[in-house]
Amino acid sequence: MKTALYPGSFDPITFGHIDVIRRSADIFDRVIVTLAVNSDKQPLFSLEERIAQISEAIKDIEQVEVKTFGGLLVRFAEEQKAVAIIRGVRAVSDFDYEFQMALTNRKLSGDIVTVFLAPHERYSYLNSKIVREVARLGGNVECFVPEFIARALSRKFEMEER
Ligand code: PNS
Repeated sequence: MKTALYPGSFDPITFGHIDVIRRSADIFDRVIVTLAVNSDKQPLFSLEERIAQISEAIKDIEQVEVKTFGGLLVRFAEEQKAVAIIRGVRAVSDFDYEFQMALTNRKLSGDIVTVFLAPHERYSYLNSKIVREVARLGGNVECFVPEFIARALSRKFEMEER
């Protein structure tokens, strides 16, 4: 049974992330979408909101679950008996940061490999930050995220305006 972690902040989860999750589920027996608790970033959505969003977004993909983690990712990977960390790489611009993380994680735990997956090219420009920005400025984000997340984004920014 081969388990992989797919870590990130998912603020919010996008069609690009979901595409990578589907590809991971084709390769591994169990995929844990792993939500970082203590990221440096100040998130738009709370941890509970993001867990609920991810759970809804992955509900039709077998062998995928969501968990949160704090501390070092490789320690959590060891606890979960994961053999791999999945990262989506969209463009060369992602590479420096991803390579640095992969090599750091390998130094910390030689048993866990990082697997880079390319999402479908239709999502190659997409990230959560862009989605938040478009939604904050009143743009339609339904081509970037599931409809229920697009609605949650609208509600969030409407509340902020009040
Ligand atoms: O979606 P993101 O923000 O690019 O995800 C980054 C994340 C959460 C995967 C990364 O910051 C991480 O692994 N954090 C956990 C702390 C850790 O293990 N750091 C050492 C690896 S460089």
